[in-house]
Amino acid sequence: MSGNNNWWRGAVIYQIYPRSFVDMNGDGIGDLPGIERRLDYLASLGIDAIWISPFFKSPMKDFGYDVSDYRAVDPIFGHIDDFDRLLRHAHQRGIKIIIDEVWSHTSDQHHWFHESRASRTNSKHDWYVWADAKPDGTPPNNWLSYFGGPAWTWDARREQYYLHHFLSSQPALNLWNPDVLKEIFDIAKYWLDMGVDGFRLDALHTYQHDPELRDNPVRVANDVIPMDMPLSNPMSYQKRIYSMGTPHVVPFIEKLREYVNQWPDRCLLGEAGGDDSEALAASYVQTGKRLHMAYSFGLLGSRMTHHDVSETVKRVEQKLGDGWLCWATSNHDTVRVVSRMHAPDHLHKEAALMVMALGLSLRGSYCMYQGEELGLPQAKLAFEDLRDPYDISLYPEHAGRDGGRTPMPWHKEKPNGGFSFAPETWIKFWEPHRDLAVSVQEHNSDSVLNHYRRMIGFRKQIPALRDGDIHVLDTPEPIVAWVRKTDDYVLLCIFNLSPDQQNWTLPDDNTYSMVSGISNGSEISVENDRQVVFHPYGFGFFGCTQPKA
Ligand code: BGC
Repeated sequence: MSGNNNWWRGAVIYQIYPRSFVDMNGDGIGDLPGIERRLDYLASLGIDAIWISPFFKSPMKDFGYDVSDYRAVDPIFGHIDDFDRLLRHAHQRGIKIIIDEVWSHTSDQHHWFHESRASRTNSKHDWYVWADAKPDGTPPNNWLSYFGGPAWTWDARREQYYLHHFLSSQPALNLWNPDVLKEIFDIAKYWLDMGVDGFRLDALHTYQHDPELRDNPVRVANDVIPMDMPLSNPMSYQKRIYSMGTPHVVPFIEKLREYVNQWPDRCLLGEAGGDDSEALAASYVQTGKRLHMAYSFGLLGSRMTHHDVSETVKRVEQKLGDGWLCWATSNHDTVRVVSRMHAPDHLHKEAALMVMALGLSLRGSYCMYQGEELGLPQAKLAFEDLRDPYDISLYPEHAGRDGGRTPMPWHKEKPNGGFSFAPETWIKFWEPHRDLAVSVQEHNSDSVLNHYRRMIGFRKQIPALRDGDIHVLDTPEPIVAWVRKTDDYVLLCIFNLSPDQQNWTLPDDNTYSMVSGISNGSEISVENDRQVVFHPYGFGFFGCTQPKA
C-alpha cells in the first residue's frame, strides 16, 4: 500500500455490522468470510475504508460490545486467519479497515474481571471501578446506566459495587490505572502490527469518570438536550458531568495518539456521546495531538429538521477549531434515517437521496451505515422478535437499534434476502426490504445505490467538497443550504428537507451553474436563472469557477 498520511481526511467510511452483513457458514449470523465475499461490491461504491463493529470473542450480551478476549476472533465470526485474509484482500482493492475497540468496559466474562471481583487484594483489584456502598447500603452515587437502572451493581464477594455504564455484564474498566492503560496499548499494538488502518473507539466519553464519584446534578430547562439517547431514558434527567464526558479523557487520548503515530497512516476515530456531544467531539480532535477525527450525535440523533441540521452544522463549525469531524446520519445504534425523519412511505427514495447528498457534502469525513446506500427504512419488529437488551428495556417507546440491525437484503429472490441460507437467522430478515435488495437496484441507473456511487465519485472529483471551507446560509425553513469553498471554486449545496415542493432564489453574489447528473430522483428545476423549484426532498449543487472576492 502506498503511504497517504491524510487518507482519512474527507474519507467515506462504510460501517459493517458483521452479524447482519453476509453469513457464509449458514449459522444464521454474518461472519468475516461474508465481508470478504462482498469486497468487490464495497469497492464498487467508491468508499475509502470500512469500519467493522466488534468481531472479538464475546458472550454477545451486547452483541460483541462486551469483549472477553481482545485478541481473539469470536468463532461465530470466523478465525484470525479469516481476518488476516480480509485485511489483505481489502488492501489489494485500496480499502482500509478500521476495527472497533471497546475499551471503556469488558465483558464480565473477561478473565480480568474474574480476577478483579475475587477479592479486594488481588493484583487486578483496581482494574475496574469498585466503590463501597453508602452507609444505608445504596450505591455510591446517583449515576445511571444507559440500559436502565443504576450504573452500579453489587458484588457479594467484595461487598462492593462496581460501575457499568451499559449492562451489568459490561463492567467499566478503571482507565485511571496505568496497568490497564499498558494492557490497552499492547492490544492496540497487536492489531496495528497486523496491519489494521485504525480504531473506532467505542463510547470514548465514558472512559474517565470523576475520581471523587460526585453525584450528577439534575438537568434543568436550559441545559443541552442530550442526543445520544431517547428522552424516555431516565438518564436524560441528569446532567452527566461526573459519570462521563469529563475532560480527564484528553490526556489519555494524547498518549494514545502519540503511541499510534509510530505506525504510519493509521487513524483514530472516537465516539463522543454524552451531554453536548459536539463540544466533546471537538475537544477530542483539536491541537493535532489528539484523535484524527470523532463523531458526535448531532445528526445521528436528529429528525433532520431545518433547525437540527443547520444549528448542528453551525455549532460544530464554531466549536471544532483545527479539529476534524466524521459525520454520520445512521448507525447500528439509531433508527435508520429515512424512518427517523418520518418521510412518507412513497417518498423514502427521495428522502434517502437528499440525506445522501447532504451528508456527503458536509465538511468532514462521512460514515455511512450498511444499507444506507439502498435507502433502507427501519425494520418494524414485533416485541418477541427483538434481540437488543436496550430496545427490550425501553419498549415500546424506543424500538431503536434492532430495527436498524436486520440482515442486508442482497437478493430479492433468495431466502433471507440472500443474507444467509440458514432456516433461521439471529434476527429476522424484514420482508419489505426485499424490494430494495442490491439485486434490484444494481442494474437500475436511477436507484439509490447507483446515485450513491455517483455522489461518492462527485465528492472525490470536487476538492471543495473534500477540503473546502463550509459556510451555512440563513435560509427559510425547510430549505437548508451551505457553501463549500476553495480559492478558485464555490459550490452551493441546497436541500429541501420537506416532503413538499419548495421554491427558493439563488443568491446573487456569484454566477452559479447547476451541476447536472447529481440531483436525479429528487429533481429541481431552475427558472429565470435564479428561481429554483425543488421537488419533495429535492436538492441541488450549483458551482461557480470564478468567485467574486
Ligand atoms: C456502541 C453500542 C454499545 C455501547 C456499549 C456504543 O456506543 O455503539 O452499540 O451498546 O457502546 O459498548
